[in-house]
Amino acid sequence: METQEGSASKPVIDFHGIDEELIQKMAYDALVWSSLHGLVVGDKSVQRSGKVPGAGMVHAPFALLPVAFPENHWKSACEVAPVFNELIDRVSLDGNFLQDSLSRTKKVDVFTSRLLDIHSKVLEMNKTEDIRLGLHRSDYMLDEQTKLLLHIEINTISSSFPGLSCLVSDLHRSLLKRYGEHLGSDSKRIPSNTTVNRFADALAKAWTEYNNPRAAVMVVVQPEEHNMYDQHWLCAALKEKHNVTAIRKTLAEIDKEGELLPDGTLLVGGQAIAVVYFRTGYAPTDYPSEAEWRARLLMEQSLAIKCPSISYHLAGTKKIQQELAKPNVLERFLENKEDITKLQKCFAGLWSLDDSDIVKRAIERPELFVMKPQREGGGNNIYGDDVKENLLRLQREGNEEDAAYILMQRIFPIVSPMFLVRNGTCHKDHAVSELGVYSAYLRNKDKVIINDQCGYLMRTKVSSSNEGGVAAGFAVLDSMYLT
Ligand SMILES: Nc1ncnc2c1ncn2[C@@H]1O[C@H](COP(=O)(O)OP(=O)(O)OP(=O)(O)O)[C@@H](O)[C@H]1O
Ligand SMILES: [Mg+2]
Repeated sequence: METQEGSASKPVIDFHGIDEELIQKMAYDALVWSSLHGLVVGDKSVQRSGKVPGAGMVHAPFALLPVAFPENHWKSACEVAPVFNELIDRVSLDGNFLQDSLSRTKKVDVFTSRLLDIHSKVLEMNKTEDIRLGLHRSDYMLDEQTKLLLHIEINTISSSFPGLSCLVSDLHRSLLKRYGEHLGSDSKRIPSNTTVNRFADALAKAWTEYNNPRAAVMVVVQPEEHNMYDQHWLCAALKEKHNVTAIRKTLAEIDKEGELLPDGTLLVGGQAIAVVYFRTGYAPTDYPSEAEWRARLLMEQSLAIKCPSISYHLAGTKKIQQELAKPNVLERFLENKEDITKLQKCFAGLWSLDDSDIVKRAIERPELFVMKPQREGGGNNIYGDDVKENLLRLQREGNEEDAAYILMQRIFPIVSPMFLVRNGTCHKDHAVSELGVYSAYLRNKDKVIINDQCGYLMRTKVSSSNEGGVAAGFAVLDSMYLT
């Protein structure tokens, strides 16, 4: 493997020598700042907090200080973001590639199979999505040994924290302004983070392309959502900057209140919908009954702009990620050789389980691999000895269940001491960090209107935890200090 330049991330300050009193003072100020500036989530211990705004709020879990991150890696992740956007768009247009690549998975994974059924129905309708909107987040880890910034995955549905990530950057900037002299650090080295405004701009531009001034943006939400403030920040920016109204509906409500007009217009509760923005719908639990599946199909059949469309959703599955990493596959979708090289440089090892050599190796050295099903939302991946046990079980059973999974090279980021703040308490732990780069893509037929990176999210988790989700309780929100 080729080695990129740049030192592995080190803590922004020397945590070993730091004065405990100073830490507690900073943590207190950070908690006040979070409460005053809306860096909050619903408090799960308060019953109505997932339903009623303002009822039961707690600060979002955060790292007290930003994590040091090499500037050259940050720049290359930004540069590659438009290439990933273009790739997803091209892949989404190749219905056969999506169906064929997922055909074995379809047989053993009911959830993916249902998504593919919707995709097939849309293909049968010969429906083309002229206006296509992607609000993505590509996640990366910096591998300590090789110093490579390796891509974990691209999220094409419900990329979370476009709102709160900006606030964490602001919080850290404010702390470094106040305490920078004591810490020997400079707040200007935290890059500006404008994700929330850039995502709002993209939603507004998509709304403009739809060209119906009376239509609204619809945020599709879970019936209970403890991360609602992240979503409200985005909707507030959409209203304040662009005067575009957003409504919130669950899949069950859309099933009840939704209808299609003969011209394809989607009405929900009588309201015309220009853009459907999904913040749910990525996990089997989001579809507890047929009602939710009917709602998904209804939206897909409509003229509304779907963020994401079923094709974009499928293009972001782990199986497709693995297929795209095979030799000569990127060439099917992208012409520019430099772009292809940029993508390949950040791909980690990815394999299908029908590769018997790699399965053998993973059974011998399971700690070097991650086994992944076609799921989103965290908590589903398999690590360590469980990889070995599952692979042996699949071999014994000899059925097609292996098609539900992919294998990925395990990435080992640098472990550093960090201060993590949860539920009003700050504690020190050994942690690793993961970079998320937001990007937006909007096109109308041949006209690419937006194709750019939009900002970032750092997530930091204790090094003993395998998974990275903040909402799932594994990680805290963080920002970066460029070195
Ligand atoms: N190859 C890997 N090496 C090390 N850690 C990994 C690897 N792949 C995933 N992880 C960890 O597991 C987390 C979840 O993985 P992944 O993003 O593939 O699953 P997901 O369910 O789609 O999560 P998300 O909700 O963040 O999209 C990552 O954020 C990362 O912390
Ligand atoms: Mg994901």
